[in-house]
Amino acid sequence: MLVIGSGYGGAVAALRLTQAGIQTHIVEMGQSWTTPGSDGKVFCDMLNPDGRSFWLKTKTDQPVGYFLGIPVNKTIPKYTGVLDTESFGAIRVYQGRGVGGGSLVNGGMAVTPRRSYFEEVLPSVDSDEMYSKYFPRANAALGVNNIDPAWFETADCYQFARVSRMRAHNAGFATTFVPNVYDFDYMRREAAQEVPRSALASEVIYGNNHGKKSLDKTYLAAAAATGRLRISTLHMVTSVAPASGGGYAVEIRQLDTSGSTVANKTVTADRVFFAAGSVGTSKLLVSMRAQGKLPALPSAVGEGWGNNGNVMVARAGLDLTGALQSGMPALGIDNWADPAGPVFAEIAPFPAGSELWINLYLAITKNPNRARFTFNASTGKVDLSWTSGMAQPSIDAAKRVFDAINKKAGTVYRTDLFGGYKTWGDDLTYHPLGGCVLNQATDNYGRLPGYRGLYVVDGSLIPGSTGVNPFVTITALAERNIEEIISADLA
Ligand code: FDA
Repeated sequence: MLVIGSGYGGAVAALRLTQAGIQTHIVEMGQSWTTPGSDGKVFCDMLNPDGRSFWLKTKTDQPVGYFLGIPVNKTIPKYTGVLDTESFGAIRVYQGRGVGGGSLVNGGMAVTPRRSYFEEVLPSVDSDEMYSKYFPRANAALGVNNIDPAWFETADCYQFARVSRMRAHNAGFATTFVPNVYDFDYMRREAAQEVPRSALASEVIYGNNHGKKSLDKTYLAAAAATGRLRISTLHMVTSVAPASGGGYAVEIRQLDTSGSTVANKTVTADRVFFAAGSVGTSKLLVSMRAQGKLPALPSAVGEGWGNNGNVMVARAGLDLTGALQSGMPALGIDNWADPAGPVFAEIAPFPAGSELWINLYLAITKNPNRARFTFNASTGKVDLSWTSGMAQPSIDAAKRVFDAINKKAGTVYRTDLFGGYKTWGDDLTYHPLGGCVLNQATDNYGRLPGYRGLYVVDGSLIPGSTGVNPFVTITALAERNIEEIISADLA
């Protein structure tokens, strides 16, 4: 069994396959983040990015790329760092690279979607089963925990969230606590200076040295404990095609930490699970179809990609947001019930280490626009048809919330963080979803039609939107699909 990628879909597949007694090989293009650098730390923090921050870039590409309109990105050595941004014309897609995929870099927000919206997005999936069995299974295995509300009220590191909550409530919006996979007990001890700081030391998008239950500590550790898991790191899958003697020939490029090719390898696998993430899986499948290696893949492969309606925005005001801010968000503004523009906005930290009076938000909106991946024969690359105007519904929905908050608070938008005089961070996403949509590009369990033994198990199955931060949905759907595949195809 070969699994391409070690993010949520790949980790779930690996655990359940190995538990079923099946030898499983994960091929992961990123590194295993276990060895400390010369500073004694595995990951660098947000304030001092070095090569470990970005995947094979010579300059950082931060989500907030400006301060007072001045670019803040720094030159870094080219290295197989943990965070990647892939640019497709109008959008930069942020993704994790390494054993654990996006779980290494994300904010840990672990949100089960509203049931009615899940049913709208994935109508072919039995939601009774999802909400009684697979969401609870995913939450338990991910190690999801809740913040102690009493501690939240007094913690210095959540001053930024409390003031944003106060401004949201004053304008008539509801807020809700958001569960996380960062251990809130550990964070409490960080605040009390009892343990080394991570979330409270500006660590988040380039990895956390402590406190976070990323997949390498949960699903993948449990899979490894079976003795049936092998992981090849710095190995990138470049091709999958039927092998002459049966099964699939998988071509792999082994990299060194500067991105150079060390070796090209071909292995044969009976079955291949695509878990390279929405972008990685879509790119591979669209290329294989166009190059005649998997010519029978349906036309729906490559379709239905969305950014989960992501848009970033910040407010300026005189509210003290605090010099010490936890890298892990704990609150969201919930205006999803507004039919004219549903929004779930995470109250995001700006952990710069000094008071900057910035209220930052990552809004998740119900943006209906979808893009398509296509193979470009002249460049040999895969393009994505997302254009800048496609973010407008997200901006319109977010404006309904933040115009009202600003009006009531007498505050204004910051226009200096996403470029000179630019209010909206509308050219980036943390939540790529779709490209190989369940029950359209695959059957109702992720099987690719026409190719027995090829499966998709990651975020590419979800058609562009979950209405909340997506990894719990990706994990629960993978749990559902792999259970069916093991019992129906592998028993
Ligand atoms: P995922 O991207 O996790 O894993 C894919 C893996 O495949 C990667 O490890 C990649 O290196 C590897 N790969 C790709 N191509 C390959 C190839 N050709 N060969 C071999 N390996 C290959 N979500 C959430 O719910 N709460 C949150 O708080 C956040 N916050 C957040 C912050 C930031 C900065 C980012 C970038 C993302 C988030 N997310 C998030 C999103 C979340 O992390 C994301 O939805 C999931 O990681 C997607 O899971 P997948 O299993 O689809 O792929």
